[in-house]
Amino acid sequence: MFLTFEGIDGSGKSTQARRLAETLRAAGHDVVLTREPGGSPGAEEIRRLVLEGDPDRWSPETEILLFTAARRDHMERLIVPALASEMIVISDRFVDSTRIYQGLRGAGLRETVDRLHDLMIGVEPDLTFLIDIDPGLGLSRARGRQGHEERFEDMGLAMQERMRAGFLDLARSAPARIRVIDGNRDADSIEAEVAALARAALR
Ligand code: ADP
Ligand code: TYD
Repeated sequence: MFLTFEGIDGSGKSTQARRLAETLRAAGHDVVLTREPGGSPGAEEIRRLVLEGDPDRWSPETEILLFTAARRDHMERLIVPALASEMIVISDRFVDSTRIYQGLRGAGLRETVDRLHDLMIGVEPDLTFLIDIDPGLGLSRARGRQGHEERFEDMGLAMQERMRAGFLDLARSAPARIRVIDGNRDADSIEAEVAALARAALR
């Protein structure tokens, strides 16, 4: 079972991914909790290249290649072996983030993301939780964190709004896989809804 969390920056994905991993472990499952970009040593190196530095450092096309390269390494080294050993893999972001963050940056880029994904990755999650949140709230939560990974968080409110709309469109196009979760609530209520959906999917 391959589960992913998606949403705009500051939506609460990491919090919910961690909580779901704890819940499923407590129920006796073997769980691998991971994240993108990253999740394997090579992919974590690419993470630094792509998330730090000047906002204009890479073109959207180059970013698609870098995120997909990181994902390929993550798949080879961690995800595929874990799924083969019947573990549950929970990833904080996956290809839907590339579809939205890079795919919405120019004409034809969404198709480029999908074609490269088919060619080099070829796997979709079994279930995706889209944590949907008011973009202003997400931005203030994300800015509350201090760090060096600011290339995307500096995008501003208008961009966060476009990303949110993009994620909701994507969810409408894949309703069986992507569940939209209202993230404008306390973390415990969100956790309970996510856990119930995950348990239903596991049965
Ligand atoms: P993401 O991984 O989507 O960027 P995080 O899980 O890191 O989001 O959460 C961003 C910030 O918001 C963190 O400081 C976290 O503690 C806080 N947070 C997460 N979920 C909630 C929630 N439901 N209500 C209020 N604050 C939250
Ligand atoms: P993440 O660490 O999940 O940041 P946050 O907790 O703020 O949501 O992801 C880092 C950034 O990388 C985030 O702004 C989204 C961006 N990203 C892409 O642009 N494309 C991708 O394919 C992925 C996986 C992430």
